[in-house]
Amino acid sequence: MTNSPYLVSPCLTKEQLELTKTVKLGVMASGSGSNFEAIAQAINEGRLNAKIEVLIYNNPNAKVKERASRLNIPCVLLNHRHYKTREALDQAIVEVFRSNQVEWVVMAGWMRIITQELLNAYPQKVINIHPSILPSFKGINAVEQALEAKVKVTGCTVHLVDLEVDSGKILIQAVVPILPDDTSDTLHDRIQVQEHRIIVEGISIAVQESLE
Ligand code: GAR
Repeated sequence: MTNSPYLVSPCLTKEQLELTKTVKLGVMASGSGSNFEAIAQAINEGRLNAKIEVLIYNNPNAKVKERASRLNIPCVLLNHRHYKTREALDQAIVEVFRSNQVEWVVMAGWMRIITQELLNAYPQKVINIHPSILPSFKGINAVEQALEAKVKVTGCTVHLVDLEVDSGKILIQAVVPILPDDTSDTLHDRIQVQEHRIIVEGISIAVQESLE
């Protein structure tokens, strides 16, 4: 595990983070996909014993699609506009994940509210990353919310997902100080540096804790 002055909850040692069995991941992303790529990179570098079986994205023009092609990871577009209900979209997601033998689901910048359909299929096995220190600044525009609140620090959280938006058991968090000249872009850039680390550690922690 990387030592960082900003890491709030280094729960496990490096040895404890090592997964003995390769975990089959399904990743969901809506936008750029830098967290998706961070997971893929950690796998390629042997820092995470996992395989991304499939990526699901919901916006046809999302940059994550290009990352998936470059990394040679299968991806499926499920455009939410083509589904009548949130439940119908989630049923389609579950179908794709089940047919790819996915064991754990990672929401890496998935900007849709999920339903019981996904949680019933993957109970306590859906992981989310959010750009704030939860339970502060839930929902959209978390980085802007932190700036508006004039807090001195913010950060990011990896947590298990339950039905309430941006809640569920916290796995790991990292703190990022807010600088006087920060804009939402500069602050989000620094938060993302931490996200790319804790998303990987959060997955290890979730899997390890599920085995205990
Ligand atoms: C990340 O900052 C993630 O925390 C946030 O979306 C961004 C996706 O970035 N997620 C949420 O706000 C969910 N509530 P990426 O596409 O570069 O991984």
